[in-house]
Amino acid sequence: MKYVIGVDLGTSAVKILLVNQKGEMCKEVSKSYPLIIEKSGYSEQNPEEWVEKTTAGVKELINQFDGDVNDIEGISFSGQMHGLVLLNESNQVLRNAILWNDTRTTKQCQEIYNVVGRERLLEVTKNPALEGFTLPKILWVKENEPEIFQRASVFVLPKDYLRYRLTGNIHMEYSDAAGTLLLNVAQREWSGEVLEAFGLSGELCPPLVESHAFVGTINAEFAQATGLTEAVKVFAGGADNACGAIGSGILTEAKTLASIGTSGVVLSYEERNDLDFEGKVHYFNHSEENAYYTMGVTLAAGYSLSWFKDTFAQEEAFEQLLAGVDEVPAGSNGLLFTPYIVGERTPHADSNIRGSFIGVDAAHERKHFARAVLEGITFSLNESIEVFRSSGKIIDSVISIGGGAKNDTWLQMQADIFNAKIEKLTSEQGPGMGAAMLAAYGCGWYPSLKECAEVFIQTAKTYYPIQENVDAYKKLFAIYQQVYSQTKELNEQLREFRK
Ligand code: XUL
Repeated sequence: MKYVIGVDLGTSAVKILLVNQKGEMCKEVSKSYPLIIEKSGYSEQNPEEWVEKTTAGVKELINQFDGDVNDIEGISFSGQMHGLVLLNESNQVLRNAILWNDTRTTKQCQEIYNVVGRERLLEVTKNPALEGFTLPKILWVKENEPEIFQRASVFVLPKDYLRYRLTGNIHMEYSDAAGTLLLNVAQREWSGEVLEAFGLSGELCPPLVESHAFVGTINAEFAQATGLTEAVKVFAGGADNACGAIGSGILTEAKTLASIGTSGVVLSYEERNDLDFEGKVHYFNHSEENAYYTMGVTLAAGYSLSWFKDTFAQEEAFEQLLAGVDEVPAGSNGLLFTPYIVGERTPHADSNIRGSFIGVDAAHERKHFARAVLEGITFSLNESIEVFRSSGKIIDSVISIGGGAKNDTWLQMQADIFNAKIEKLTSEQGPGMGAAMLAAYGCGWYPSLKECAEVFIQTAKTYYPIQENVDAYKKLFAIYQQVYSQTKELNEQLREFRK
């Protein structure tokens, strides 16, 4: 039996999976690392930490592995997107990485609109200027740390840096490059126009490769430190959302994913590169060659639920908190929640908006609040689904992973609110499995990622919409959609009281 390793370099931890040719996850190791938060709005990490924790994790995995290490053929990566890693001409790290959830760059986003123009930016990069993306971070360093910027020879994204340390070769692949705001997404090349507009040299951008591209074998140092052989082939890998999609089988038109983690993502496979979503959803290159995906993000999805639990039921387990929500009818007896507790991204990119409970009644009990939180998160994800549908996309089936797939009532609620069939998978390993599949495909185990997915990914259970609930939720969603505009101004006024 042969094996591959999928490394998921996340924001809080690196997760390493050993996967065999049948798609079975044989071993899993996870190592966490901290965020460096110097000031409010800042979020950084030390890239050396990624390398150390991945090395320690792979070593632990190999120590636990009782098979023949020569049977481990390939390794690939999934990575947190958008994080800026600046390297000097000897490829040494110049400063801590500035991560996707760092929001110091509002001024630079405005500058991007002023210089390039919103329309043109959307034409070239398919995406709006958001604080989390990479170009605003590059401009921030250029403006605020000019002595560091002067020494920058190339920039990479988190998993590219990790891969460089395993191989000695610098590359970036399309799915992650798409989140930099420097890629012409449809033409799949660095945008000379955007680079020039900000006086950036093209040499700052690394060579682009496909996600399944073979980029070298692992170097002697990493082999010695981990116990892997130097014959292990390294494949480029992909952005965590692209890999999450692959690891859930989102590889054909009309396949859609709803993933509820801290943030929530609705992601839909896209063959075309010429659709116009007016920047309401992200539009990125997939980790499958010449494919794309569109994605809407709810900033506080699982986070809204964990906030609710930590604030009102800290001692309880989630099961206890959610006990009774199945007895509450659709609509929580007139209680409505909007999950804007840390602002929102899709469809309202607004860092100032905040959440609400609307319609609190003396008859409401805690279970009504708990259900309203689940419904509010799901309504927010449904906003992304509605954006996709209004562009003509047919969404009649959604694969649900993450927190939303752990509870039967929530799965049925997704079917009723999305008005689509919901599929729960037998084993969901998300982005790490997607990375392992890129290695499996790169090693030539399967002729395509789709054929790999047919073996690796199976549906455990399907939930169908219940018409009565669908009708109720349609009416409630129309009310939910009004809450944003009707509370925007109130939240502007409340801003000065937030401490
Ligand atoms: C996507 C995004 C996040 C990160 C998390 O645009 O910012 O999903 O990829 O790692």
